[in-house]
Amino acid sequence: MAQKNFVELTRTNDKMPLVGFGCWKVDQKDAEETIYNAIKVGYRLIDGACDYGNEVEVGRGIRKAIADGIVKREEIFVTTKLWNTYHNKANVRPAFDKQLADLGLDYVDLYLIHFPIPLQHVEHDVCYPPGWVHPTKTSGILLEASPMQDCWREMEKIAEAGLARNIGISNFNVQLILDLLTYAKIKPAVLQIELHPYLQQKRLVEWVQSQGIAVTAYSSFGPASFAQLTDDGRNAKPLLDHEVIQAIAKKHDKTTAQVLLRWSVERNVAVIPKSMHVERMTTNRDLFSWSLGADDIKDITALEMGLRFNNPDSYGMALPLFA
Ligand SMILES: NC(=O)c1ccc[n+]([C@@H]2O[C@H](COP(=O)([O-])OP(=O)(O)OC[C@H]3O[C@@H](n4cnc5c(N)ncnc54)[C@H](OP(=O)(O)O)[C@@H]3O)[C@@H](O)[C@H]2O)c1
Repeated sequence: MAQKNFVELTRTNDKMPLVGFGCWKVDQKDAEETIYNAIKVGYRLIDGACDYGNEVEVGRGIRKAIADGIVKREEIFVTTKLWNTYHNKANVRPAFDKQLADLGLDYVDLYLIHFPIPLQHVEHDVCYPPGWVHPTKTSGILLEASPMQDCWREMEKIAEAGLARNIGISNFNVQLILDLLTYAKIKPAVLQIELHPYLQQKRLVEWVQSQGIAVTAYSSFGPASFAQLTDDGRNAKPLLDHEVIQAIAKKHDKTTAQVLLRWSVERNVAVIPKSMHVERMTTNRDLFSWSLGADDIKDITALEMGLRFNNPDSYGMALPLFA
């Protein structure tokens, strides 16, 4: 039987597509057209964030696709994320309201806490999006004493108001999820994490899925987006050019990108590749008419290196979040 191309979320039973389009590093000047094209070639999930600095343009692309009749609002799954500087209970809802207004939508389908890192608040008119470094500093982060429980309660209120159909988390580990589950009235619907053959996180994925929480993989191509950000990947071969992935791709007459994406999708893990090229966008979502064999999975499993690229500690924030 063919694999479903969506995962059903707990509580709402919303169908989250297993393949979406990621908006990080899509320049403002390109974002409207890129998102429009992504929807036109068939993407039905758009993964954005305050931190990507392009929500106004991403929203324009989505709304243009709706206005042109390519898609109805209810047929597209829009994800965005709460940035670290808005974790305080007084700041969650205003941050969300601004994002919704920037997107020009009435609701989002999924609102995630981007990182479990409460940073000192920055007013919208001082700096938006605020990024990691506080505007009063030239480097490093300023933490804020905002408990996750308070932040999650505000996320729940946004869900209860129907403004985010689902709420979830990103870059959380099991210890923090265990704690969150002790007080959550609404369980997180999704955990979004870095996931690729160099960082497979098998037990994390299995355990989280066993809790009824869907998993989304980001950076499925490993080091592809992190060349300028971190030193960690310098010694790791680009996965898109790795001979093991190339051999599997050749066998199935697919691209190496498709092999890396299909590897997650086969674990019922959603993927959100980003590409500025329509041809790549198109092939990147062709993942359901074929499958990997047991030998392929074995070869990919052997690539595990415990190598993480999205680590605030390695891009100058002196914060070993995943230690
Ligand atoms: N929650 C979080 O903390 C977090 C962190 C990072 C990312 N994310 C999300 O995950 C999404 C994806 O992760 P990512 O941004 O790290 O990027 P990615 O999708 O893993 O990789 C993007 C890179 O791969 C290239 N690429 C895409 N398709 C290709 C293909 N078929 N052949 C060759 N190269 C290809 C792109 O180049 P071109 O554009 O030139 O094609 C770009 O350089 C982000 O956009 C964002 O939405 C979330």
